[in-house]
Amino acid sequence: MQTPLDYARYDRIRPLRWTGDVLEVLDQRGLPFAVEHVACRGSDEVAEAIHDLAVRGAPAIGIAAAWGTVLAARGVSAADGGQALAHLRPAMERLNAARPTAVNLAWALERMRRRLRVSGADWRDALQDEAARIEAEDLAANRRMGELGAAMIAPGSGVLTHCNTGSLATGGFGTALGVIRAGVAQARIARVFAGETRPWLQGARLTVWELQQDGIAATLIADAVAAHLMKTGQVQWVIVGADRICANGDTANKIGTYALAIAARYHGIRFMVVAPSSTVDMATADGDAVRIEERDPGELMKLGGVRTVADGIQAWNPVFDVTPAELIDALVTERGVIERPDRAALEYAFGS
Ligand code: MRU
Repeated sequence: MQTPLDYARYDRIRPLRWTGDVLEVLDQRGLPFAVEHVACRGSDEVAEAIHDLAVRGAPAIGIAAAWGTVLAARGVSAADGGQALAHLRPAMERLNAARPTAVNLAWALERMRRRLRVSGADWRDALQDEAARIEAEDLAANRRMGELGAAMIAPGSGVLTHCNTGSLATGGFGTALGVIRAGVAQARIARVFAGETRPWLQGARLTVWELQQDGIAATLIADAVAAHLMKTGQVQWVIVGADRICANGDTANKIGTYALAIAARYHGIRFMVVAPSSTVDMATADGDAVRIEERDPGELMKLGGVRTVADGIQAWNPVFDVTPAELIDALVTERGVIERPDRAALEYAFGS
């Protein structure tokens, strides 16, 4: 029998802290060198923290938006949840508009709306309860996915991950990084490689730092090294998270994921997507319908705050891409593993 994972040892960071009064956001822009929190006292401050990447990662921005709704309710007086919802709509729309690609944001806000619709005079407590549930359910889902995903990995394997999908990006433990934590704990994973994830460097600044807190040694690579790494035989799985999984299995995730999937298929390396069911969007038919966030090209012009590009140069900065379902070997959610995901399998697992 497998020894249960010591969660106190693996997984010590939280991106968000609800004090009962304020949402404290661990400011990921300063990591790994500055560990500082931004105190959000209103929903627009939360929307700004999401837009400006103080908090990032699909599940974490959904959770932040849920707490943002609780903060927006501060100034509202209403007899029941239905009335409160009418007042809260504009603030919730601003939260929803903070970033376009991760469906978890809209999903969490829809859960808050649904809860309000069925709440009476206690709607304020109900909102707070719903936000806490969203956060706790995400942590539980991640732990379950950790077990399910790790079980697919043969002992002694090497893995490559992209972006940051850990505690920092979720309610805790992480999605792809949760599988990696569980896989390392079970000695299934012997080598962890993390791509630096240009331009925002989620891999270099966040993932390897987060793993270091757990005592997990990870090797950082430049993104451009990935195909060469695969060719050397050091990795058997690429394990990534997701921002939106479409009804046919096409998966939007951090820019560069698609290139990893193509290179993995060419080299006979398996490709695993790990995401909670809150990332599955059955209302979006396929990847062509996903809105891909494009950020300020200025993000490409600097490294560590120092300008590296000549004046007058143009740049294009899409920050997500879509991996076609046919390149995905395993989709892990808390509901189970779907091998070779396609429209029929997703409809069976997630259809209404
Ligand atoms: O721009 P980011 O840092 O929010 O992008 C994050 C990702 O692409 C993650 O892979 C995804 O949100 C899953 S996080 C568990």
